[in-house]
Amino acid sequence: MKRFILAITGASGVAYAARLFACLKGRAELHVVVSDRGGELLSLELGMTAADFAGDHVTRHKNSKINTSIASGSFRADAMVVVPASMGTLGRIAAGVSETLIERAADVMLKEKRKLIVVPREAPLSTVHLKNLLALDQAGALVLPASPGFYQKPQTVEDLVDFVVARILDQLDMVQDLMQPYAPDGKSL
Ligand SMILES: Cc1cc2nc3c(=O)[nH]c(=O)nc-3n(C[C@H](O)[C@H](O)[C@H](O)COP(=O)(O)O)c2cc1C
Repeated sequence: MKRFILAITGASGVAYAARLFACLKGRAELHVVVSDRGGELLSLELGMTAADFAGDHVTRHKNSKINTSIASGSFRADAMVVVPASMGTLGRIAAGVSETLIERAADVMLKEKRKLIVVPREAPLSTVHLKNLLALDQAGALVLPASPGFYQKPQTVEDLVDFVVARILDQLDMVQDLMQPYAPDGKSL
């Protein structure tokens, strides 16, 4: 079973995290950390709390408690996804702040050269944001913006969410049937 860290921070778009969790639950060992603001967004946008991220092979960690397994390089996670990723958290990861568990776990992924996927949601982007995103890319992270495409003709909000979650699952090397590969006129490329 693969082992993933799922970090939820205070950007809009927590539906992406909830859907990703639902798609991975039972299929991978999951370590979930929710920032304080992430918790507020969960409540505001979905009426959920961190406690809803539960199940077999799921461990929830407190963001304020850094002294835990995933804070160490000895914890061999296959990947970490920060989704949605606030510009605040991204800036702190890019600067190597490592104050909270999310920041430290992300710092560990970078130093151990393991897969760190960040899913930012902000518009417009300032020079500070763009510099931080470039710094993360250069440090080895994968920047996967919460930016759904429309060529698959989405009909619902869920379709838009699935577009982004499918891209994340592809990057995690997890089989997904949320989104078929693009095929013009229904024909395979
Ligand atoms: C309603 C609301 C929506 C927000 N949406 C975003 C957003 O989409 N993107 C972003 O980068 N920050 C957003 N923020 C700002 C972050 O929540 C704020 O910078 C916070 O300090 C981030 O904390 P965290 O990174 O520890 O979760 C939002 C804040 C609020 C209250």
